[in-house]
Amino acid sequence: TELSRIRNFSIVAHIDHGKSTLADRLIQSTGTVADRDMKEQLLDSMDIERERGITIKANTVRIDYKAKDGHQYVLNLIDTPGHVDFAYEVSRSMRAVEGSLLVVDASQGVEAQTLANVYQALDAGHEIVPVLNKIDLPAAEPDRVKAQIEDVIGLDAQDAVLISAKSGLGIPDVLEAIVTRLPAPKGDRSAALKAMLVDSWYDPYLGVVVMVRVMDGVLRKGDRIRMMQTNAVYPIDKLAVLRPQMVDIEELGPGEIGVFTAQIKQVRDTRVGDTITHERKGATEALPGFKPAQPVVFCGLFPVDAADFEDLRDAIEKLALNDASFSFEMETSAALGFGFRCGFLGLLHLEVIRDRLEREYNIDLITTAPSVVYHLYMKDGEVKDLHNPADMPDLTYVDHLEEPRIKATIMVPDEYLGDILKLCQDRRGIQLDLSYAGSRAMVVYDLPLNEVVFDFYDRLKSVTKGYASFDYTITGYREDNLVKMSILVNDEPVDALSMMVHRDRAEMRGRAMVEKLKDLIPRHMFKIPIQAAIGGKVIARETLSALRKDVTAKCYGGDATRKRKLLDKQKAGKKKMRQFGKVDIPQEAFISALKMD
Ligand code: GTP
Repeated sequence: TELSRIRNFSIVAHIDHGKSTLADRLIQSTGTVADRDMKEQLLDSMDIERERGITIKANTVRIDYKAKDGHQYVLNLIDTPGHVDFAYEVSRSMRAVEGSLLVVDASQGVEAQTLANVYQALDAGHEIVPVLNKIDLPAAEPDRVKAQIEDVIGLDAQDAVLISAKSGLGIPDVLEAIVTRLPAPKGDRSAALKAMLVDSWYDPYLGVVVMVRVMDGVLRKGDRIRMMQTNAVYPIDKLAVLRPQMVDIEELGPGEIGVFTAQIKQVRDTRVGDTITHERKGATEALPGFKPAQPVVFCGLFPVDAADFEDLRDAIEKLALNDASFSFEMETSAALGFGFRCGFLGLLHLEVIRDRLEREYNIDLITTAPSVVYHLYMKDGEVKDLHNPADMPDLTYVDHLEEPRIKATIMVPDEYLGDILKLCQDRRGIQLDLSYAGSRAMVVYDLPLNEVVFDFYDRLKSVTKGYASFDYTITGYREDNLVKMSILVNDEPVDALSMMVHRDRAEMRGRAMVEKLKDLIPRHMFKIPIQAAIGGKVIARETLSALRKDVTAKCYGGDATRKRKLLDKQKAGKKKMRQFGKVDIPQEAFISALKMD
């Protein structure tokens, strides 16, 4: 296709503002998919995405559109993941296109993810067309939202397209705006091949499918290609475009977006952002800006039933084949037995994987305290990454620790602002900015990631009744006074509950933990001390009293010595149990104990 007749774009929006509905309408109104084949939310393919209403994998569709100028155009829509955990995937898919539709719910206005995503689009040099959706709703206030887009984002919104993705109103205007207001791609057909690897996934019938955007040169079926990061060479078996189902094609030229298969064994062998060129006469320089996705949140996953360990291993290996950003290694814990230490891009990623293990593979799991990656500076000069608080060396060998910090943007109705400021302050936050967009406040905080990984989302949602929106980026590492807090149940350390905490907050966290555990652990026949400790020093303690069998009940009064003897005997028995007996800690204790109030 001629470059001037191609338009590549993505849709950026806050969750629920109607991105998928608009994509469906664009596909439907251009006859790309016959009406009878149209499913709701065509682009959200995985069940779990559909249920959660979150688009995780980037998808794309090629649409043929005859514009009012009489020419036939090819429109490539790349559906980007909306959530911050997938920020790197978002930024890659953004670099594969030249423009964005900025969809804002006209009854809600700009939200935190609107901002995060639109900044990514601006960074990628996009032309942006604002689209105000849901104007069918009585609560829609298009003029107010236009003003807000101009104030908060600094984008001219006077020519925003007003639509109802639900009813189809305004969809033809969106299509015309794509053609007339977004730029055509650039590229050189005669240059060496440079294609960007935008996404890849596992298809049960075809194996690994790779999505690419050709920048320069031409990619043809049968070509032998080289991935510039991994240096692996593959022959292209199948070349296709997505409509959204695969339709074979002979070649992809500059500006075009398509998919190929090449007998690649696992998704892990493909790196999002990598440059693909020809094995012979290939490009010498890769496209700029490649970086591998790094897991930032780690936690242990253990089967509730030890007999499920092998099933868990199988399931984790299968999931990992399809998700290069998910890492795992075997771990053993005294309390929980065999399991895996897993790394995730963020909390949502963790939740998605855990859900899939539980639902698709039917394995009940215990998730240990999520931890971020600390930089550990040892006294002997060595610098290490610490992924698991259980591996924290003795403090006498440690010079100092650094923790990751984030820049968090929170948008919230005015009346909840006080609660949000308190929450951020409680989590060691430093306020960077506070401004207003209409009746909504926008606060920007510098926060330690470790204070966010536990239950920050939950707290944020509950204190604002769901009205706050939140997004963050990792800004870097900073030194702070962090220590490892261990939890001892019946004098035995429970690895799964140990965590890194700030020194000043250790006692408070410790006290809260032991109090919670006291309620969560059932009483046994013996007394159970529950302690929080830093190094050898106990900072909080609770005692769970024993269930007491009244052994003297049957000694009808009288004989005091006999009573004495019986009680002594019972005490000895208790001691034995305390020494050798095991305390049962219920599964929910592990999750509940980590939540803060
Ligand atoms: P994610 O995929 O979760 O990011 O959400 P999304 O932005 O794709 O939103 P989606 O298209 O799933 O729409 C969210 C909800 O808004 C759905 O219940 C839609 O039916 C509804 N919706 C979308 N467009 C309109 C509209 O124009 N008017 C009204 N009234 N509702 C709409």
